[in-house]
Amino acid sequence: MSEPGTPLGKDLIGLEGLDADQILAILDTAEPFKEISQRRIKKVPVLRGKTIVNLFFEASTRTRISFEFAEKRLSADTVNISSTGSSVTKGETLVDTARNLEAMSIDMVVMRHGSSGAARFLAERIPSNVVNAGDGWHEHPTQGLLDLLTIRDHRGSIEGLKVCIVGDILHSRVARSNIHGLRALGAEVAVCGPRTLLPPVPEDLGCVVFTRVEEAIEWADVLNVLRLQLERMEAGYVPSLREYNRIWGVSRKRLEAAEREILILHPGPMNRGVEIDSDVADGPHSVILNQVTNGVAVRMAVLYLLAGGQPEKAEAAKQGGEA
Ligand code: CP
Repeated sequence: MSEPGTPLGKDLIGLEGLDADQILAILDTAEPFKEISQRRIKKVPVLRGKTIVNLFFEASTRTRISFEFAEKRLSADTVNISSTGSSVTKGETLVDTARNLEAMSIDMVVMRHGSSGAARFLAERIPSNVVNAGDGWHEHPTQGLLDLLTIRDHRGSIEGLKVCIVGDILHSRVARSNIHGLRALGAEVAVCGPRTLLPPVPEDLGCVVFTRVEEAIEWADVLNVLRLQLERMEAGYVPSLREYNRIWGVSRKRLEAAEREILILHPGPMNRGVEIDSDVADGPHSVILNQVTNGVAVRMAVLYLLAGGQPEKAEAAKQGGEA
């Protein structure tokens, strides 16, 4: 339940269930925060006195580091914990780990976990705010939000755009968050991939379904190309990586056949030469590094709002106030 004046409640677990007003409030809050990262001294006192624990049970470069930058640039105190360096390796449970952190007076937990549902499980058991930084195949809400912000930056509005998510839909929490967010904002959404990498009934996602990448490219204004999640696959999903690239890879030749400008996103990390070719990833219509830049502002916005900040006060807050 949202507090009056704030678009979020206690936690951010997913984009499913958030309406257009809530999502737009987060994106609009991120806008003024973008400028902080361009300053010579990249620090404002918005979260001064707050203690945030980044609890990462899975590998991450972009999400972990951009959360840490967002927290530090808003002047929060931060602690980073990964499963390998903690007592999780001795068998301590997630809830015991979190309760011990709570005993040291924390305010928020940002967590990545391999199990779908882990973020909600934690949020229901501790009083601190919980932000889902990716849980299994379920959701990666801040990735969905930064993708929305990046598309909006380059296309002006999400409503009415045709956005196709291409690749390993089955294992992708990024796909699920994008689908919820894009549909809430009025985009037409499609998924495209081999049958083995789509859910058993892909139509249940509420999207157009393509099984040929050429058709998806013909249809789309925006392609969000997903990584083959080799670590979540057992053998047999695709014949070989070379075969995948030949049939499904987003290449310059395939994009040129569409004869129009298609915006290219990828959440990273990329398997270059598998789901996306380098001349597309580094090409003129790629906004992949803009996504990374926007990740910091979006995460600042989420932390600010969960701390009780109001969207209309974000501009004033970054000039020296607190949430
Ligand atoms: N996009 C994303 O979640 O990247 P990381 O796994 O590096 O955080």
